[in-house]
Amino acid sequence: MSSAPSSAKLTRVVGALAEASGMRAATLNELVRIGDAGLLAEVLRITGDRATLQVFEETMGVSLEEPVVREGSPLAVELGPGLLGSVIDGIGRPLGDLATLTGDFLLPGANAPTIDRARRFTFVPVVARGAQVQQGDVLGTVLERGGFEHRVLVPPGRQGIIAGVFGGERGIEDVVARLADGTTLGLSQRWSVRRPRPSAARLDASRPFLTGQRIFDFLFPIAEGGTVAVPGGFGTGKTVIEQSLAKYAEADVVVYIGCGERGNEMAEVLHEFARLKDPRHGRAVLDRTVLVVNTSNMPVAARESSVYLGLTIAEYFRDQGYRAAVMADSLSRWAEALREIGSRLQEMPGEEGYPTYLASRAAKLHERAGRVTCLGAPKREGSVTLISAVSPPGGDFSEPVTQSCLRVAGALWALDPELAHQRQFPAVDWHTSYSLYSDDMGRAFDATVDPDWSKARGAVLDLLQRDAELREVASVVGPEALEDKDRLLLQAAAIVREVVLGQSAFDPNDAYSPPAKTYRLARASLDLFEAGKVALGRGATFAELELAPVRRALATLRDAPAGDVEVKAAEVKARIASLWRGARSEAGGTS
Ligand SMILES: Nc1ncnc2c1ncn2[C@@H]1O[C@H](COP(=O)(O)OP(=O)(O)O)[C@@H](O)[C@H]1O
Ligand SMILES: [Mg+2]
Repeated sequence: MSSAPSSAKLTRVVGALAEASGMRAATLNELVRIGDAGLLAEVLRITGDRATLQVFEETMGVSLEEPVVREGSPLAVELGPGLLGSVIDGIGRPLGDLATLTGDFLLPGANAPTIDRARRFTFVPVVARGAQVQQGDVLGTVLERGGFEHRVLVPPGRQGIIAGVFGGERGIEDVVARLADGTTLGLSQRWSVRRPRPSAARLDASRPFLTGQRIFDFLFPIAEGGTVAVPGGFGTGKTVIEQSLAKYAEADVVVYIGCGERGNEMAEVLHEFARLKDPRHGRAVLDRTVLVVNTSNMPVAARESSVYLGLTIAEYFRDQGYRAAVMADSLSRWAEALREIGSRLQEMPGEEGYPTYLASRAAKLHERAGRVTCLGAPKREGSVTLISAVSPPGGDFSEPVTQSCLRVAGALWALDPELAHQRQFPAVDWHTSYSLYSDDMGRAFDATVDPDWSKARGAVLDLLQRDAELREVASVVGPEALEDKDRLLLQAAAIVREVVLGQSAFDPNDAYSPPAKTYRLARASLDLFEAGKVALGRGATFAELELAPVRRALATLRDAPAGDVEVKAAEVKARIASLWRGARSEAGGTS
């Protein structure tokens, strides 16, 4: 990278902000190194000869008059093989390496490259000398840990005729192809994090993004390339949801952004993902994951950039033709970083002190999700799905960050402290949550899982709605005053809450629910309700219905290992058939 010679000097340093003189030639968003330590910073504003800088690192110990050196380019991230399984900070420095280098978290001004220079990758070209290549074309592949095929692409904006191609053992900085005009293409490429990577065309969100969580797949499904906001107060389960999706959602690559949350949670993620296997491929979950870590103790500006860095990495895998997913925990901390920087800049504050551009920034960020036709050959599609936790203070969803996200997200998974208190997890409030994708996704599930999927979903939602109404009535008149059919409905809804909506993230068999199992549990709960209604119609009383054994059988089905699901489902069916003794004797069964 070229460093422009300059006489630029620091004139002011306040927290994450600095000011420098001699910056007339600087450009907006340009990266600079400040002070003798060479801390990384970014140009936020230029007024005549002076520039205001956002510093990505701790500014303690930096003095006025120390030099400022321009880097000549904006904050960019190195993209290439070796990213998967790595842990990086909000400006792309590897945390693993720095930890071993400094014995601590971060060495200020350290300039460690994102991808380890010592690593070697076997590059297998798919283009030959003389071929004409365009931006986005696959030049060749590298097999990564766990068998992931990393596709090495012609970077956006490049094209030409291949004059030489170099297969075999390559380092991250090595040339893998040379074009006729002398341009060299490497194993890696850099991309400026605040600019969306280009694609050939945007596609409709038509395919489900399978989460493996029943309440989402069944009631509030999202599409591949979709966006969802997950607001919830402290302790309502945002992090557990983000982690469960990172582990089990049907994505090829997951970028997990720990943005302003606790550091020990990220250490746990790293530890757990390394030993956990992806239920579909049996590979370590970490091998498909990139962790971007900016915990609460790290500088605020890098927290702001971490979200863009993570999205850029996801787009890069999308461009290879993969389904990437971004888990951001949480966008509230990102917005707080914006607020802090904005107030230091003495900008006119908007609602609750957030900058007036909060909503437009949130919209731009969400626009980077989507399903696309990728640039280049061979023809391929890829997607970025965005799942953002939001942490409204006091759990009040009317605050600006939640509202800004809701305005642009395609779905809302609203977390409710009352459900969390009852330990009904995931604590998703089914009355206020919604998904704009649910009709399209319902059709997809009808076609792939069961033709009655959508109908069953409608029946479950209806049951939950009537349950809420009846519970209100029961709270006034007392449950004993209800008619038998209503008592049955309350029981059926309780069973749905327990075995369909409820799912323990910590039960090894139930943490991940494939759609077939999700459907079975929903179907069986509805069948039970129907069988109960039939029995009441034939003269049974509510007290005569043997609901408890069915409920136990359903819970056993829910917690059964994958291999036992069929057997347990048959047991549930048998229990439903003998729900009422009267029916059994009618059918000539044992009594
Ligand atoms: N799906 C779940 N299954 C079991 N327990 C859960 C689940 N979701 C949340 N919990 C419980 O709630 C606690 C708080 O969840 P967490 O995700 O840390 O909340 P938040 O990030 O919203 O502050 C967890 O430690 C766990 O005990
Ligand atoms: Mg959390």
